[in-house]
Amino acid sequence: MTTPSQTILHILTLTLLITLTTSQTSTYIVQVQHDAKPSIFPTHTHWYTSTLNSLSELTNPQILHVYDTVFNGFSVKLSPLQASKLETLSGVLGVIPEQVRQIHTTRSPQFLGLEKTDSSGLLKESDFGSDLVIGVIDTGIWPERESFNDRGLGPIPDKWRGECVGVGVGVGVGVKFCNRKLVGARFFAAGYEATNGKMNESVEYRSPRDSDGHGTHTASIAAGRYVFPASTLGYARGVAAGMAPKARVAAYKACWVGGCYDADILAAFDAAVADGVDVVSLSVGGVVVPYNLDSIAISAFGAMDHGVFVSASAGNGGPGGLSVTNVAPWVTTVGAGTIDRDFPASVKLGNGMVIPGASLYGGPSLALGRLYPLNYAGSGSVTKGSDGYSSSLCLEGSLDPGSVKGKIVLCDRGINSRAAKGQVVRKAGGVGMILANGVFDGEGLVADCHVLPAAAVGASGGDDIRRYITSASKTQSPPTATITFKGTRIRVRPAPVVASFSARGPNPETPEILKPDLIAPGLNILAAWPDMVGPSGLPSDKRKTEFNILSGTSMACPHVSGLAALLKAAHPEWTPAMIRSALTTTAYTLDNRGETMLDESTGNTSTVFDFGAGYVNPQKAMDPGLVYDISTYDYVDFLCNSNYTDKNIRAVTRKIADCRGAEKAGHVGNLNYPSLSAVFQQYGKRKMSTHFIRTVTNVGDPKSVYKVTVNPPSGASVTVEPEQLVFRREGQKLNFLVKLHAPAVKLTQGSSVTKSGTIEWKDGKHVVTSPIVVTMQQPM
Ligand SMILES: *[C@@H]1O[C@H](CO)[C@@H](O)[C@H](O)[C@H]1NC(C)=O
Ligand SMILES: *[C@@H]1O[C@H](CO)[C@@H](O)[C@H](O)[C@H]1NC(C)=O
Ligand SMILES: *[C@@H]1O[C@H](CO)[C@@H](O)[C@H](O)[C@H]1NC(C)=O
Repeated sequence: MTTPSQTILHILTLTLLITLTTSQTSTYIVQVQHDAKPSIFPTHTHWYTSTLNSLSELTNPQILHVYDTVFNGFSVKLSPLQASKLETLSGVLGVIPEQVRQIHTTRSPQFLGLEKTDSSGLLKESDFGSDLVIGVIDTGIWPERESFNDRGLGPIPDKWRGECVGVGVGVGVGVKFCNRKLVGARFFAAGYEATNGKMNESVEYRSPRDSDGHGTHTASIAAGRYVFPASTLGYARGVAAGMAPKARVAAYKACWVGGCYDADILAAFDAAVADGVDVVSLSVGGVVVPYNLDSIAISAFGAMDHGVFVSASAGNGGPGGLSVTNVAPWVTTVGAGTIDRDFPASVKLGNGMVIPGASLYGGPSLALGRLYPLNYAGSGSVTKGSDGYSSSLCLEGSLDPGSVKGKIVLCDRGINSRAAKGQVVRKAGGVGMILANGVFDGEGLVADCHVLPAAAVGASGGDDIRRYITSASKTQSPPTATITFKGTRIRVRPAPVVASFSARGPNPETPEILKPDLIAPGLNILAAWPDMVGPSGLPSDKRKTEFNILSGTSMACPHVSGLAALLKAAHPEWTPAMIRSALTTTAYTLDNRGETMLDESTGNTSTVFDFGAGYVNPQKAMDPGLVYDISTYDYVDFLCNSNYTDKNIRAVTRKIADCRGAEKAGHVGNLNYPSLSAVFQQYGKRKMSTHFIRTVTNVGDPKSVYKVTVNPPSGASVTVEPEQLVFRREGQKLNFLVKLHAPAVKLTQGSSVTKSGTIEWKDGKHVVTSPIVVTMQQPM
């Protein structure tokens, strides 16, 4: 049986073999052993240049970035042959092919979703968190937004070493880019330009200024000031505020029109940590590969090792399993859920049928009470091409104005962005659009700021409409429809719900580590937006809006980043692992009906692979009672137990590993993670068992007694020893042992089943909850 990560490895090996035979150059991240620099070289850069020059056929090596904080090494363009030569040199720990990452909004067309939050006003505008700096690695920032005003903020914290670079380039030459709120702004483009050539400065700014909107949006979710009134095209009126309204923001622009290149992301991490950020927020991701080949995992390790909390988006590849990304155990991986607000719209068909939908359309409505002719873009008469499938997607130039003019057009999801489809329909003369999910998208709805009256409907609604169009077309009364927009609805039940697009477990790299860690608001999130980008994100959209509503795990991640800053402010001595533990052990799994959260894509009950520990609970996270801490060396043991070689462990951690010692500590599942996960291969066994050792640190009342409550995964038996933990002082650590027995279950070859339960430690005041997950696999 091949696991998905093995498959990815195979693909990777294959690509390397193919590219080895060509002389195409591409970017590599080169890791060096920092202390191996011969003393004849005054600086590491001299050493790196000389090393490159020694690769015979390489003339004029162009070093893109040199890294020395989260990572030691540099990035450079090489041929595959040069890269493999370089890897054999002593002092070189690894040569990693660069990945291109994408931002995790659902504006990218493959994904979908539905919902939003205003932060609960947690801690109000107290000075709380004002000494903390959140570094946002993203598409840059629009500094003039009210969300980044510095009124009433004290001086910039002394420890801050960051700066504003490239200020005044692009719009607003000479503006004062930074202030006491936005304390740093840098950009990193060498990696991007090494692959794509010089950027087109009439399309994007060679400065930290945001020409996309994503970075402005995520930064203001993490730490935007209170702004009232806020809304997008009249939707979601109210107060906009980030999670930590007084925390400082530093923008590190590493994402460009063509994507986010590892060489630049690494440079951004390196600078952020050297500048003195407390939290890194990364709403960007790519393909899951082993940690020693993953630049983000390696830089995040370096950041964690400096005490910096790293939260990253889980990705929008849901609802399928194994889709979660950014899975390293030293990263907090955030999926997306709804809140109790949505933006309903409905589609009424000529036969009287009403289909629920969602929209943020804000222009003139369709004529009241009038039904418009309705066409399916996939039917031959509407489209110019003969390819019914792809033309159903309303791609640029695919619609025949003659048969679309004056009509509402049904388009299918996929390929081009949702808003772009609306633009195509409008250009062809259509008056409205219905956007139908495919089977993969399920029933989750994304509301968009469309450029014409348009609503999203689920997969089953789409089927109903197509059936109606087919049957009505055969009769004397051709198909008709209208769309009604119902504005903003609050106190929606059930809520929260796991967003359809939110990437799911199991963890493709280390199934024994439950990912995502938790979910946070990621649907229809209102946050700041640049002036130069319309709310639909389309170049032709000239509307201006101070705020915009977006969906994605990109929007969920900065909620956790902001909250982590507040936790760090309240508990300066907490490590990143303690902060994550506080967040996950207090997360909840019941919705506002008191039932287990649903999965938006199916309407069924969701599972730990969908929500991890649950939905983030800001108030509870401030006072978790107990936390599960993890040291840098625990992660080294974890990598040993994951069978990484000493060299690869050193490449990730910059620590010399002694894996023989680690064996005594046991298996991968013994990392002191705040969740417990066991994976068994059945091989005809009747019963499987394992144990977990955990250590909890008392961060609540000095004298406290915790008793355990076990809700075992169904069919399994779980015992905890001891059943009571008696603490005498704050900071005291106590161990416990969890024994898990699971009987074999009937499974077909190659299939698996997962059950989950919880372990709760309670002292009468706190409930410290960990998921316990057991997966049984029947080998092929
Ligand atoms: C830059 O972008 C503008 C606007 O899209 C385009 O007109 C121009 O041709 C581009 N320039 C280059 C050099 O690609
Ligand atoms: C969801 O529930 C339906 C029945 O309500 C069932 O047919 C389907 O298999 C379920 N889907 C999943 C993924 O469990
Ligand atoms: C590591 O290798 C040992 C020995 O081959 C094996 O028993 C164990 O399952 C492996 N662990 C992982 C996480 O692959």
